[in-house]
Amino acid sequence: MIAIGCDHGGFELKQEVLKHLEERGVEYKDFGCYSPESVDYPDIAKVVCDAVVAGEAELAFLVCGTGIGMSMAANKVKGIRAACCSDTFSAKFTRLHNDANVLCFGGRVVGPGLALQLVDAFLDTEFEGGRHQRRIDKVMALEND
Ligand code: RB5
Repeated sequence: MIAIGCDHGGFELKQEVLKHLEERGVEYKDFGCYSPESVDYPDIAKVVCDAVVAGEAELAFLVCGTGIGMSMAANKVKGIRAACCSDTFSAKFTRLHNDANVLCFGGRVVGPGLALQLVDAFLDTEFEGGRHQRRIDKVMALEND
């Protein structure tokens, strides 16, 4: 299952992503928000990231105005490696090399066409492991410093 969440800045774009996931036949859980009314992005980041850390979701998408606030909040949750991307090369390589488990992007930054390509690049790429695993282990060890 793929977890997805947004704040008001990402609401419209999230609706496009939901449609795309349905068309792709990807199972997802929408953690809100469910209207363009103002909400606080850390609240949404928390529930989505909790689902990833609990193993309920394999990967997640978080959308706010810029993607930045969501990624900052998500990276505070132990076990989360969130990347804020607005190009497909980064969305692919953050899976390949960083084993990112959350992709963030901005509803006020990327259009729906590019956003869906980011989603596809992220979903369709597996972590490469090897030398990158050692580096991920070092990144995750920083959580305990
Ligand atoms: C909300 O106005 C905006 O600050 C939020 O969506 C996000 O861009 C924060 O990083």
